[in-house]
Amino acid sequence: MRETIVAGNWKMNTTIADAMAIVGGVLRRNDEFGRVKVIFLPPSIWLVPIKERYRSAMLGAQNIYSHLRGPYTGELSVEMLHAIAKYVLVGHSERRTVFGEDHALINAKLKTVLQANLRPILAVGEEAKLNIGKKEKRDILALVKKSELGRSLVSATRGLSHSQWSKMVLAYEPVWAIGSGQAASGNYANSIIGALRAMVVQLANDKVATNIPILYGGSVSRYTAPDFAQFENIDGVLVGNASLRVAEFSNIIETFALARARRKNENSA
Ligand code: PGA
Repeated sequence: MRETIVAGNWKMNTTIADAMAIVGGVLRRNDEFGRVKVIFLPPSIWLVPIKERYRSAMLGAQNIYSHLRGPYTGELSVEMLHAIAKYVLVGHSERRTVFGEDHALINAKLKTVLQANLRPILAVGEEAKLNIGKKEKRDILALVKKSELGRSLVSATRGLSHSQWSKMVLAYEPVWAIGSGQAASGNYANSIIGALRAMVVQLANDKVATNIPILYGGSVSRYTAPDFAQFENIDGVLVGNASLRVAEFSNIIETFALARARRKNENSA
């Protein structure tokens, strides 16, 4: 069974007091949900104090630079993250649009993260909703492949070995759904994620595609989470705004934990 992951991307929010309260609160409520991997992506400056206080918290960085050290004012290197964070978010649409990160930089960052033995969470998504209507799977695949979504997956992962692929987490984040309050429907996300998984078969191989966790992100809330959790192909969610609220984020984790437990029972029955 693939991993189930619920990750919280706090973006440029929280004080140190908020950070401690969120991680502490979520860990207290969710220690019974060991089946779901919960990853916190706080502002980098909170990573060390969080790790010191909450050893068991699984942490990731929202960004790193593609070089290991040198004259890069304001940047953070993967070497500085070791022993603190295991995950790094790469390719988030805000990095692409606000900070002008292009495909080449995203590809370089991804490789830097993998070479440092950290796990990238690679985010890809389309600007405008794709017209998948009632199309067949292979037509959706063709549509995704020629869209910017498909092209960004290809260029971000150019030159990766199969063993590097096997460390990746993918996050499908339609840009139109991020921060808009308009999440994609579970059906839509499931169709696109199916197509992305089919692309991974071609870009890597069957085994990688079967095992790679693919998350959905974009306006996930306690109300929209069940719509995604019902699909076996959607391995979790990358949550922005709602990850800043302990009760709501915990509720989303619980939704995925229960869906996973139910699926496991069905599979073993
Ligand atoms: P949102 O953000 O949940 O606030 O839409 C998601 C993201 O940007 O990862």
